[in-house]
Amino acid sequence: MPETADNRITVVLATANRDKVKELRPLLERISPLFNIVTLQELGVEVDIEETEETLEGNALLKAKAIFALLSGRFPFMIALADDTGLEVEALHGAPGVYSARFAPVADGLAPTYQENVRHLLHCMKGMTNREARFRTVVALKGSLPSPEGSFSIEHTAEGVVQGNITLEEQGDAGFGYDPLFLVQSTGKTYAEMSTTEKNSLSHRSLAVQQAVLYLENVLQQTHLLPIVTNPHS
Ligand code: IMP
Repeated sequence: MPETADNRITVVLATANRDKVKELRPLLERISPLFNIVTLQELGVEVDIEETEETLEGNALLKAKAIFALLSGRFPFMIALADDTGLEVEALHGAPGVYSARFAPVADGLAPTYQENVRHLLHCMKGMTNREARFRTVVALKGSLPSPEGSFSIEHTAEGVVQGNITLEEQGDAGFGYDPLFLVQSTGKTYAEMSTTEKNSLSHRSLAVQQAVLYLENVLQQTHLLPIVTNPHS
């Protein structure tokens, strides 16, 4: 049986990564009272989805589809929202890219820590003068939405990109992953020197989420579910 009796659309954040949830949640909670944002942890779901695709798009969709298949029976209307992110370094021909989480070499069966990946990147870039890089996030949506006829399915991806430079050493303690190495030129700061609010005002993840939200608003307007657009970014 569905868990909610109302017609709100449940958006499940299809990630077990608490650092991502910390950024995604405030970005999404502002969109519309039509949406109810929940995490896998709040639903008591522990699942490890192996990222087997070779692109960010492929892995983001794979995660969104897996969580939708697992949980859609619990809700009248639901969207699974997944994010896959890569740091693409120009001098490394786009590496670590889709392998950003598994960049540093570690023993079989183990996953490198954020710190190990950061040190490995600095090691790979030792002596390199071209330090240009970009962070790219693909957000995937897989869901079932209400319509005058009952319901309809959506499957969509949206992208956000931010250009920056890889610093010579770690700067700042905030954020996660490669944040201490990613300098956003317009601010003169690394992501790790920003608060969550400041990072969310300009990051690759927030740009991808904004595109995904625009898509959802359009879809909901077409189905007359969202007559008055609430601008989340004003
Ligand atoms: P995922 O495959 O999308 O889970 O992310 C790959 C890896 O990229 C993570 O393990 C982090 O090391 C890194 N990463 C993802 N998003 C960010 C970010 O916003 N800042 C810094 N590193 C990130």
